Amino acid sequence: MERLEVKKLNHHFGFSEILRDINFTLNKGEVLSIVGPSGGGKTTLLHLCANLLDVEEGSVINTFKSSAFAFQEARLLPWKNVIDNISLALIAKGEKKSEAVKKSQEIALRFGLDEEDFEKFPKDLSGGMKQRVSFARALVVKPSLLFLDEPFSALDIGLKKELQSIIIDMISKKEISILFITHDLMEAIRLSDEMLLLKADPGHIVKKFRFDLRQNERDDRYVYGKSAEILQDEEIISTFELELK
Ligand SMILES: Nc1ncnc2c1ncn2[C@@H]1O[C@H](COP(=O)(O)OP(=O)(O)OP(=O)(O)O)[C@@H](O)[C@H]1O
Ligand SMILES: [Mg+2]
Repeated sequence: MERLEVKKLNHHFGFSEILRDINFTLNKGEVLSIVGPSGGGKTTLLHLCANLLDVEEGSVINTFKSSAFAFQEARLLPWKNVIDNISLALIAKGEKKSEAVKKSQEIALRFGLDEEDFEKFPKDLSGGMKQRVSFARALVVKPSLLFLDEPFSALDIGLKKELQSIIIDMISKKEISILFITHDLMEAIRLSDEMLLLKADPGHIVKKFRFDLRQNERDDRYVYGKSAEILQDEEIISTFELELK
């Protein structure tokens, strides 16, 4: 079975210890989220998992057939229009231009872009539209593993919910596996099967939570209820340095 397996992973930048003894497995069809405070090493961990950074100690085994990314900022190519940005990876894989454009247009529409946006360049898109393009570009290649690094955090609540519901639809159909990095506890509860709590200095996992209800059956009540329950947890309180009155 396809999986991402992290074992005894440590990481340093210079003399700073960033991650210590990270262990987890992400199985096919699952969403694993890593939640923790800013500076805790989440992005570093994702980069190690995605092979964007060399593993120095421990191991990362990734047997997923293909992967794609979406980040906090959209990172589009400024000299390419919307459809060309989305179709890039398809063309790189050897797909015919006309076929790549057709697939890119379909997925752009699914992510809420309009036909009149197709020819626009990134400088003429709003932040939210850029993030729609970023998701479309990641998913057009139908990756079996998707790496998400806070892709919703710069979005307003309406767009956040809209993009999350498209992702939830894909999760429910078992179309994708996701490693999801966020500092937003509620977002993690809404989307993940398993949530790891990463405490800082150095980043280490202090707790794991599992959510068994299917993502498409989780409503706001479920998410708020679970958040309230989890916010009673002493590890959560100390990890986020929360002061509860
Ligand atoms: N390339 C680098 N060289 C040196 N130090 C780095 C590098 N990248 C990150 N760091 C340091 O590693 C620590 C963890 O950073 P990282 O970006 O992984 O945190 P994060 O949990 O993703 O934070 P945020 O929630 O703010 O995105 C920080 O102290 C950061 O300054
Ligand atoms: Mg980060």
